[in-house]
Amino acid sequence: MTATHDTPAPIAARLVDPQAYAEALQLQEDFRWLRSNLPVSRATVPGFDPFWVITKHADIGDISRQHAIFHNGERAPVLADRLAQATVRGLTGRQHLVRSLVQMDAPDHPKYRALTQAWFTHANLKKLEQRIRSIARSHVEHMLACAGQCDFVRDVVANYPLRVIMEILGVPPEDEPRMLVLTQQLFGSQDPELNRSRQLSLDTEQLALQLHTVVADFSDYFRRLTQARRAAPRDDVATVIANGLIDGRPIDDFEAMSYYIIIATAGHDTTSSSTAGAMWALCEQPGELAKLRANPDLIPGLVEEAMRWTVPVQHFMRTAMQDYVLRDVTLRAGDWLMLCYLSGNRDEEVFAAPFEFRSDRNPNKHISFGTGAHACLGQHLARMEMRILFEELIPRLAAVELAGTPRRSASNFVSGPKTLPIRFVSS
Ligand code: HEM
Repeated sequence: MTATHDTPAPIAARLVDPQAYAEALQLQEDFRWLRSNLPVSRATVPGFDPFWVITKHADIGDISRQHAIFHNGERAPVLADRLAQATVRGLTGRQHLVRSLVQMDAPDHPKYRALTQAWFTHANLKKLEQRIRSIARSHVEHMLACAGQCDFVRDVVANYPLRVIMEILGVPPEDEPRMLVLTQQLFGSQDPELNRSRQLSLDTEQLALQLHTVVADFSDYFRRLTQARRAAPRDDVATVIANGLIDGRPIDDFEAMSYYIIIATAGHDTTSSSTAGAMWALCEQPGELAKLRANPDLIPGLVEEAMRWTVPVQHFMRTAMQDYVLRDVTLRAGDWLMLCYLSGNRDEEVFAAPFEFRSDRNPNKHISFGTGAHACLGQHLARMEMRILFEELIPRLAAVELAGTPRRSASNFVSGPKTLPIRFVSS
């Protein structure tokens, strides 16, 4: 490797900085520069193991699809500095805080994924359409009752995907507020307004300790749920996990807890972010709302474009298991790679006018759900929730605009609008 493959230091520093994702514009510029000048570059940031920065849509796809060469579980599948990784090892004696699908590779990954896959297919989800529509309708009614002004995140979307996934999982409504808080603490732990201790700058060791406590709280809760579902099975995902067999044996406790946590958490901050991202775009481009009202068949297009635009999951990491040549760069066995979905979704080689929001973008090959063996398990559910919400909302929304400055959460992993003040006219 030559020095020419080094990520410029200011860009490398921003790639790890949660605040840079809250501000986003500079980062978009950084990615634009990397795509055209150094599509594969090596970031060296004090305190972090060096990692390759993968910015092109095609490369993110190729790496994701070659899961025998690029592993998830070998090292942290989400960016973490050395101290955080050491703290996790010290606390748990393991490399990962949890061992969910995200931390697994073959041969375990396909076995564990197969347990719940059937639940998240189109065909199965269709059965839930009416139930999801009634949850969506109640959130739309709540918004319309807000006298023409609300915070779309707090008042409408923060709880909507949560209610859907809790119903699928089998968590009763009275426990949902607790689940919401725990998820926000898990994903928003880099954001002082969302983390458990509300401290402005937690050091990385404190962050890992805090995450460990959040995971312990989740596990306490789900341990009780497992016992309940083993004693009295129901038609829900908790029953599938609690009674799941891997190689003919009951699923291990640690993997079961991890499974609940990924299902409970992966689906709501992400889906509420892309739903809020869609509304933010409608506020900034009033022509889009008029187009959608005139032609509701564009709503699935709005959903896809909001996924591309918002990019709720900023990155996942992979580890090369053998040497591999990517463009003009040789990646070595053991190297760590950051798949930059935000960059892939603005790739000029794939998207015409990538910095414009277009509900009628066709084709729209965004990479917000990843691809390959680890492609998002809940992607059909996320799409369905958003489509239904906008099918209910758009006919009743004559006009909408921003009523303040929206803010994104500070996180280099799951980040999206955390406040979206809007003023609207209903019809
Ligand atoms: C807008 C909403 C969502 C976005 C943007 C999103 C994004 C992602 C991404 C980028 C991945 C990793 C893909 C890869 O490594 O190639 C992923 C994996 C996953 N997602 Fe989602 N997700 C969303 C909603 C959901 C929902 C509703 C669920 C509910 C079950 C869910 C469950 C999962 C699970 C279990 C995985 C791990 C899959 C595996 O490793 O095999 N996600 N998601």
